[in-house]
Amino acid sequence: MTNIELINLLEQNEYLEQDQWLQLISSWSEADRIYAGNMAAGISAACFGHRIFTRGLIEISSYCKNDCYYCGIRHGNHHASRYRLSLEEILNCCKVGYELGFRTFVMQGGEDPFFTAGRMTEIISAVKSRYPDCAITLSLGERSRSDYQAFFDAGADRYLLRHETASDLHYRQLHPADMSPENRRRCLYDLKEIGYQVGCGFMVGSPGQTPEDLAADFLFIRELSPQMVGIGPFIPHHDTVFKEEPSGSLKLTLFLLSLIRIMLKNVLLPATTALGTIHPSGRELGILAGANVVMPNLTPVRVRGSYLLYDNKICTGDEAAECRHCLEKRMSGIGYHLVTDRGDWQPMNERSHSSCHTIQNH
Ligand code: SAM
Ligand code: FES
Repeated sequence: MTNIELINLLEQNEYLEQDQWLQLISSWSEADRIYAGNMAAGISAACFGHRIFTRGLIEISSYCKNDCYYCGIRHGNHHASRYRLSLEEILNCCKVGYELGFRTFVMQGGEDPFFTAGRMTEIISAVKSRYPDCAITLSLGERSRSDYQAFFDAGADRYLLRHETASDLHYRQLHPADMSPENRRRCLYDLKEIGYQVGCGFMVGSPGQTPEDLAADFLFIRELSPQMVGIGPFIPHHDTVFKEEPSGSLKLTLFLLSLIRIMLKNVLLPATTALGTIHPSGRELGILAGANVVMPNLTPVRVRGSYLLYDNKICTGDEAAECRHCLEKRMSGIGYHLVTDRGDWQPMNERSHSSCHTIQNH
């Protein structure tokens, strides 16, 4: 089969075999990428119109007990500047965000033991009681099932935990021995069983990543069937083990975004800050390749510059309002607009554009 035939097959069956993924990922051409991009943008338009969902990102802590080799805020980086937000500061971020029209707040941070289940549930309940019409997304890494349950019971709706790589061998190349791919997967399945809308994902071009690893990622994503998938390019950080490694490629990231959209038609798919960091129009190109979510930053400017996962991160000096307006302008520049509803994932037959699942090949 040609690559174009494989892309058409993926569109129809929402599934490819391992060897078919491998062919597509190891031999794609620019023409294949453009073909997949047009198909993915068509699927997004049929499912969501030209609406882009926004999530207000609040980076609540730059402390982390883990030592992921790629990450600028890893425990072993003694040059990283550390902060954690107080309940009052988090509520203030939500207030600013609410007034700017955000109806989803994403609380993200390193794995910071300070945020015990008790402290987190207090924060979640406080945000939820003030903003009952908003969704709360957490991205706090690996926790026990009982913590996940407590966060859910307190009002958290969604959880983002990138699986990072579906290959056990590759996982061990990216993480120290005290982290395991088994536990990562356990977390994702626990979250799903508890009832969260779940997001997984991976970095494109992380050191050691092979086409086989990416094929495994697609098979894993298909099996997990998450409501959200976060992918963005790996970008080196100067204080990490991988400081000399090259960034992930823009075009490969765009191609993979399109393949995810074609496979999981109604998935929530962000155009990430990392994509905007490796190319000035990265987020716009991500949307045109099939993404449908952006995550402007609501973190107080006072600490923005301390949550540095990789070098040259964009928007570290901008106020929340500037970030939102900048993205609004960027999206309208390519014919899309930001919407203020919570933007929950919905099953196919409940999407207003029911043609979503009957897209024909372009
Ligand atoms: N601690 C939480 C967790 O592990 O899911 C949330 C924070 S963690 C920093 C969020 C994501 O940032 C990671 O899942 C990883 O994929 C991404 N990330 C970390 N370092 C990166 C880098 N150097 N380049 C691009 N993305 C990176
Ligand atoms: Fe924990 Fe990066 S190593 S957030």
